[in-house]
Amino acid sequence: MSRSDEQIAALVRGDSVHKSVYTDPDLFALEMQRIYGRVWIYVGHESQVPNPGDTHTTRIGDQDVVMVRAADKQVHVLYNRCPHKGAKLVAEGDHNVGKFFRCPYHAWTFKLDGQHLAAPMKLGFEGTCFDPKHPDFSMRQLARVENYRGFVFANQSAEGPGLKDFLGGVISSIDNLCDRSPSGEVEVAGGVFRVLQPSNWKVFYENLHDTMHARVTHESSFMAARDEAKAIGNMPLELHIMDGNGEPYEFWEKLDLCAYDNGHGYMEGIFDPGAADKDPVTRSHFESLKQAYGEERAREILGMNRHNTIIYGSGSPHTVFQQFRVIRPISVDRTLVEIQVFRLKDAPPALFKRALVYANLINSPSSNVMPDDIEVYGRCQDGNLNHGGDWVSMHRYHGTDREMTGGMVSTNGTSELPMRNQFKAWKQFMMSESAFAQAEPAKEPAHAA
Ligand code: FES
Ligand SMILES: [Fe+2]
Repeated sequence: MSRSDEQIAALVRGDSVHKSVYTDPDLFALEMQRIYGRVWIYVGHESQVPNPGDTHTTRIGDQDVVMVRAADKQVHVLYNRCPHKGAKLVAEGDHNVGKFFRCPYHAWTFKLDGQHLAAPMKLGFEGTCFDPKHPDFSMRQLARVENYRGFVFANQSAEGPGLKDFLGGVISSIDNLCDRSPSGEVEVAGGVFRVLQPSNWKVFYENLHDTMHARVTHESSFMAARDEAKAIGNMPLELHIMDGNGEPYEFWEKLDLCAYDNGHGYMEGIFDPGAADKDPVTRSHFESLKQAYGEERAREILGMNRHNTIIYGSGSPHTVFQQFRVIRPISVDRTLVEIQVFRLKDAPPALFKRALVYANLINSPSSNVMPDDIEVYGRCQDGNLNHGGDWVSMHRYHGTDREMTGGMVSTNGTSELPMRNQFKAWKQFMMSESAFAQAEPAKEPAHAA
């Protein structure tokens, strides 16, 4: 069902949003075109394809794509489709395809940048229009690919801003994650967790800066952590992390929320760098950074204490605990979250262990914390199918947001500014002429002769 711009705009008010944005399959299909077909999406980290022939499959909206390292070390992102009969060429997961792609159906082969290499039995093509140089017979590249400090993003549209302009103020979170390594480099390590959430993709983005839910939704896990700490007579890091959700509303209220254009943002102030100085792992980290960058810069790097950066459409990097929760919409009521954990190259090994502890405790399918969230996400999804009201509230501190360069800021950490900001971007992207130029997936691959 087509929607006019007026109909779409009417779904988003400044302080609330119509519930159909979470439940309507037609709107989901339109999001795949107008958001995922237009904006920069994180594909993966280049460390996931370290050698020529390495592939990593994932999705950009409703499109299966494959990230591949070519012989010249360049990383390409291709639609995962054979141009012969359309078979998905690369099986899901991480593989090495060798020197070229070979389709499992009729053995057409393609170079690692997607260019047609060969098809068996050339005789059969004689006298036909088959032209191996024509783009119709090659795997198609995405319209644009950019690699920022190892983080590979792709865009299905040739129009619109470059990656840096799109990311705006949150690019500094990627910088900070990398700068935490004494050599400025990170790598995905230890495999990934995958969680299928029974809810629309936007519900998770909203929750990432929803400080008002922590001490309610997570009561069972933070109370269990407190009981355990009492029983053993101290509060190790593992319990401390779960205990944090039980902070009173006054604690959350003091945090800063930064909301940038295009739906991005981050939360500041949860981790007190002064307190972190007392932690032996942080101290050894500080020493390694001091050696690499000097004391002042080391303090600056570790002093950036951001929680849950949001890169709208892609997911949520976490700088302090070295992870990226990649968010992939599957259907209007299913969202796949893939949790990548990063090793900081040349940093003390204890940091990677700490990152794994955090991922296990907070984000893994078997953690005590994530199931709390998944329960309420599912309830939002189900509840919004019921009669009893059509609007979802985002009123908290509406009207108090302050302008800043490239976005808005709230010093009331319980504000629903981040959600309002996400829907402001959603509305812009969803217009037939979006904030970015109208774009369809690229018609010609970059390597077209
Ligand atoms: S479908 Fe790929 S070679 Fe036929
Ligand atoms: Fe939560």
